[in-house]
Amino acid sequence: MKILVLGSGAREHAIVTSLLSEEVAHDIVVAPGNAGIAQDVRVETSLDPLDGVAVTEYAIENDIELVVVGPEAPLVAGVADPLRTRGIPVFGPGKVAAQLEGSKTFAKRIMEAAGVPTGRAVRATTIVEAEEALDAFGAPYVIKADGLAAGKGVLVTGDREAAVAHSIQYLRQGSVLIEEFLDGQEVSLFLVSDGHTVLPLAPAQDFKRLLDGDEGPNTGGMGAYSPLPWLPETFVDEVIDTVALPTVRQLAKEQTPFIGLLYCGLIITRHGIRVIEFNARFGDPETQVVLPRLVTPLSELLFGAATGALAGVARPEFAMDVAVTVVLASEGYPEAPLTGRPIRGLDAAAAVPEVTIAHAATAVDAATGDLIATGGRVLSVVARGTTFGEARNLAYDAIRQIDLQGSQYRTDIAARVAD
Ligand code: AMP
Ligand code: GLY
Repeated sequence: MKILVLGSGAREHAIVTSLLSEEVAHDIVVAPGNAGIAQDVRVETSLDPLDGVAVTEYAIENDIELVVVGPEAPLVAGVADPLRTRGIPVFGPGKVAAQLEGSKTFAKRIMEAAGVPTGRAVRATTIVEAEEALDAFGAPYVIKADGLAAGKGVLVTGDREAAVAHSIQYLRQGSVLIEEFLDGQEVSLFLVSDGHTVLPLAPAQDFKRLLDGDEGPNTGGMGAYSPLPWLPETFVDEVIDTVALPTVRQLAKEQTPFIGLLYCGLIITRHGIRVIEFNARFGDPETQVVLPRLVTPLSELLFGAATGALAGVARPEFAMDVAVTVVLASEGYPEAPLTGRPIRGLDAAAAVPEVTIAHAATAVDAATGDLIATGGRVLSVVARGTTFGEARNLAYDAIRQIDLQGSQYRTDIAARVAD
């Protein structure tokens, strides 16, 4: 199949790696991609994923049979709509359904209409309303920017002053949601949806805070592992029945079917499962630990979703082993990452058995020929093992081989499940 993947992160690199691992060979092109992706497949560095007209023209001219949209920004900008209008199969929701991720208010409305369990929340448009809600819920305070904020919009804090300051910052850009604090283990569950039928992938856990022990600021994600051995056996079915299907049915009822990846961000509280967020695309870094274990060909799932053909398809199968990923981030991430520094030691890292490296923010410096870091999260080091202890050892052996001045990574990814 001729497949166009939009995006430039480690998630897209993991998607490409999974497509390349299938028995059937595909012709894959990524726009814009990054230096690591360019080592594996063709990249179109000048095709802008946000430009729906250009992407559609490109897809038509190049006989693309499937477009896979990686990140949220092009989805929220509506890149899937012109493709779908032209009859090109696209994995990713249209502009309205992507509001499930793009607007927390929209997501709350859909959940309410569908009876999906989530935290109680109040939308505030003034600081007076925000402070009232903060005091009504009490500490710890949870404040969420309403729109897309690249993982930085949420603050969970016991400090009322910080809660008010965060509210003021994001009220300048629109509204904020003040939410009740939910306590428990977090789980990311991905479901492939064709607008009516959903198929679950393996659950994963993301580490959102920058520092060991879940300290420091929220980030896009510093590591992940999958599967989650501590989950009750009924968990996936419960999420399908109480969260995913009701949500997908509600969107279908509203004539905006959700075709793509429904990412359920969940907390298991004492009172049961609660949704903390939906995303409209694969999670990063969870994808890096979910897809390597996927046995079912990924292209069949994505194409089946894009063409409305998932009814009756068996649930995706996963290998029996485990996967761990550790993210290597630049100095200064997440506030102000320092970029342009050379990365060395990747060959040695990739030579560690069972290790693959997904590139996130890398480029080749035109002047020096060096591989350099171009953003906050630079690489995802992924290791598979028969146990979490083994996979962790391999991932950390590999990441220690990588030399990037000032870089940072967490040392406790999957530690609690390691034997
Ligand atoms: P989000 O961007 O909505 O995924 O939020 C980022 C992180 O903030 C989540 O992964 C949680 O760790 C935390 N968080 C979000 N909402 C809540 C909540 N209602 N209660 C506790 N923690 C939350
Ligand atoms: N890992 C969190 C996200 O992809 O939003």
